Amino acid sequence: MTQLQFRRNRRLRNSTTLRSMVRETILQKEDFIYPIFVIEGENVKNEISSMPGIYQFSLDRLMEEVDEVVSLGIPSVILFGIPAEKDDVGTGAYDNEGIVQLATRLIKEKHPELVVIADTCLCEYTDHGHCGVVHGDKVLNDPSLELLAKTAVSQAAAGADIIAPSNMMDGFVIAIREALDAAGFEDIPIMSYAVKYASAYYGPFRDAADSAPQFGDRKTYQMDPANRMEAMREAESDVMEGADFLIVKPALSYLDIMRDVKNNVLLPVVAYNVSGEYSMVKAAAQNGWINEKEIVLETLTSMKRAGADLIMTYHAKDAARWLEGK
Ligand code: PBG
Ligand code: ZN
Repeated sequence: MTQLQFRRNRRLRNSTTLRSMVRETILQKEDFIYPIFVIEGENVKNEISSMPGIYQFSLDRLMEEVDEVVSLGIPSVILFGIPAEKDDVGTGAYDNEGIVQLATRLIKEKHPELVVIADTCLCEYTDHGHCGVVHGDKVLNDPSLELLAKTAVSQAAAGADIIAPSNMMDGFVIAIREALDAAGFEDIPIMSYAVKYASAYYGPFRDAADSAPQFGDRKTYQMDPANRMEAMREAESDVMEGADFLIVKPALSYLDIMRDVKNNVLLPVVAYNVSGEYSMVKAAAQNGWINEKEIVLETLTSMKRAGADLIMTYHAKDAARWLEGK
């Protein structure tokens, strides 16, 4: 007599306890890095209209946010600066009294244990909004490296624990590594935006950081969303140049890439759950169309499942609360 053969996969789903015992991916608040926008001026707490719940803070109000992050047990923040003045070479980025440098000193003074990551780029500081030096309609590679290296050194001198270059010039990791080492910062890790696509998902961030390019786009330096093999070339370059962490960005539409990177490098992988991904969830949640808590926790879990060791996310504070059952 023939017998129908099948496996009873449901056996392991029969109770909450059993499900938690066989769960393969555990999301925890220690995975999170929370992005903060610091702006010059006084008494500013300015909500970004395309990013509900996310604000630009002036230095005198920054601690309202940082204290909350610390009290929630989130281990790290990444800082983005919005200077009062911009120019064609992004002077504000490598000013020792620049907005990110001042914010870093302030935060490290009060919360020495909080890991402060400095985003190293020029686009928030240049009047043309590009991530490097511009000549005519070209974004120049090598002349930009010098300025990025200077920026990284001034951020490290201000007390940044990790340097996170997001500019996508070729050779930025080695240029920054050499400059940090020469300045005595050989212990400061580089968290490289190694695999960064030219993505429409950065739209809301550019409102928040006032960093939209004033002409053209970023397609000559950020990657084509259609490319997978190229991501491995970018990751490999940054490993060779001495990166300590690799970021894949955006996250949600690029989970296949995250898994590729995880399987092919020996460095911690960081997912950047970018602004547009956040805004879409917030918009749907505000309309009552989705369950925000469940959507966010499912989304962040999928990033870890895809290979992310850490997640940069604007949902970090909410997710930390939800994971604590609050
Ligand atoms: C700066 C930078 C950007 C983001 C992080 N660093 C914007 C860009 O490249 O245009 C995007 C982050 C987000 O969308 O949340 N180079
Ligand atoms: Zn930039």
